[in-house]
Amino acid sequence: MGRLLISLASLKGGVGKTTSAIHIAGQLTRRDRGGVAVVDRDRTRSATSWSRGGHLPFFVGTQDAVMRRADEFGSLVIDSRGGLENEELLEMAEASDFLLLPTNVEYMSLDAMAQTAEALAEMGTRAFAVLFTMAKPGKRLDTARVVLEELGLPVMAATVRQSDAFKDASEQSVLVRDVRGNRLAKTCWADYEAVVDELFVRMGRAEVEA
Ligand SMILES: Nc1ncnc2c1ncn2[C@@H]1O[C@H](COP(=O)(O)OP(=O)(O)OP(=O)(O)O)[C@@H](O)[C@H]1O
Ligand SMILES: [Mg+2]
Repeated sequence: MGRLLISLASLKGGVGKTTSAIHIAGQLTRRDRGGVAVVDRDRTRSATSWSRGGHLPFFVGTQDAVMRRADEFGSLVIDSRGGLENEELLEMAEASDFLLLPTNVEYMSLDAMAQTAEALAEMGTRAFAVLFTMAKPGKRLDTARVVLEELGLPVMAATVRQSDAFKDASEQSVLVRDVRGNRLAKTCWADYEAVVDELFVRMGRAEVEA
């Protein structure tokens, strides 16, 4: 079993990359794939700050710090900075087993998405998908999904709901499952469980098709 590499990237900032990287890593620690690490490739170091206090069940560090301990990790989750160029996105796609593009319906830029879809399609990348974060069930979400699918972009069936529990989690430097005083915390954690379940299904499929 080779090392698993999942990357989070977006053309826009503030769409939930760091929150997703932390929670996907958290879910991966439950799946017996060797040690898990988050590679913090954002110079604002938000993932690293989240890990302060030592409440996260996985390692978070810079690329250098993770590579120094590479033998310990069977799964890596890469958190990148906001606003990547298309070219950087393509490089990430190429290096990863799966590239997740978190997107917020409210701030979604269709032009940017269309460009990305085109670039990834040209490269023949199969192992990527858009993930709706901060999602509120309803017509806007449904429409956004249809529009992206019409652009030829794969969209995750799993979505991550909008909840302050995620902000609480980052403020308390814990996973959302460990947030105290927010009764939605457990359902928020389950959202990322569904994301990781679907990721494994999609990765299996991409491997077969490749
Ligand atoms: N599902 C969610 N519901 C509500 N708020 C969320 C959710 N996910 C993330 N947030 C909040 O939205 C803000 C941006 O999230 P996050 O830092 O994960 O995005 P990012 O893409 O990593 O941003 P940047 O591009 O600046 O690195 C944070 O305040 C975070 O707490
Ligand atoms: Mg971030």
